[in-house]
Amino acid sequence: MNHRQNIVLIPAAGSGSRFGAAKPKQYIEINGKTVLQHTVDIFERQPQIARIAVIVSPDCAAEFARFQTASAKTQIFAVGGDTRAQTVKNGVDTLLAQGLAQPDDNILVHDAARCCLPPEALQRLLATAADRPEGGILAVPVADTLKRGQSGAIAATVDRSGLWQAQTPQLFRAALLQQALSVSDLNGITDEASAVEKLGVRPLLVAGDIRNLKLTLPQDEYLVRLLLNAAEQVV
Ligand code: C5P
Repeated sequence: MNHRQNIVLIPAAGSGSRFGAAKPKQYIEINGKTVLQHTVDIFERQPQIARIAVIVSPDCAAEFARFQTASAKTQIFAVGGDTRAQTVKNGVDTLLAQGLAQPDDNILVHDAARCCLPPEALQRLLATAADRPEGGILAVPVADTLKRGQSGAIAATVDRSGLWQAQTPQLFRAALLQQALSVSDLNGITDEASAVEKLGVRPLLVAGDIRNLKLTLPQDEYLVRLLLNAAEQVV
């Protein structure tokens, strides 16, 4: 019998500088709940998720005190780092050191700012990758024509065949993720898969969903509001 647990790790220690709000974007309120709370609630509702670890910055106590967790399934760890990769590494190390995750458990890293993840997309990831040692990520094939820019003009059109946009969750065994993030230089690692790829592993690409967008720029907030309203009508 398989006792491997699925544990969600939510890096939420970013400052959201591209979003440009007074507070980090994961703490802005939409429909009476913070973006982070919306994200946590998606996983709270899924019985296949055993634990949710939210990793916040050690110096944003005021915000995380306002974060009301829904159940004992969710725990907050104030061990965030200077980069997303460092935050995830600190979170994985803490979970393993405290015995809250076993090396063979799956860790699903999910951006705090992706608060519209459709449950079907999460189910696809679990069904495809939960029992695979190489892990897997949600991703969508690139739909638009891609241009390489130079000084405000088009320098080249880039062949988009075979190109995917990486989303989250990104699912890996805890031991593999810890090994992948144990490199001396975490700079330039913008997702967990790229760290795992550097070990020579080829994680699976699982069909994501364009609704799984990341709140990054101020104009994304309008779409996120529409998506959250639509999701609430079907729950
Ligand atoms: O800035 P970006 O949108 O790429 O951040 C993606 C996720 O990583 C967000 O959930 C953000 O809070 C998190 N992050 C973090 N620690 C950092 C930087 C980003 O947890 N130092």
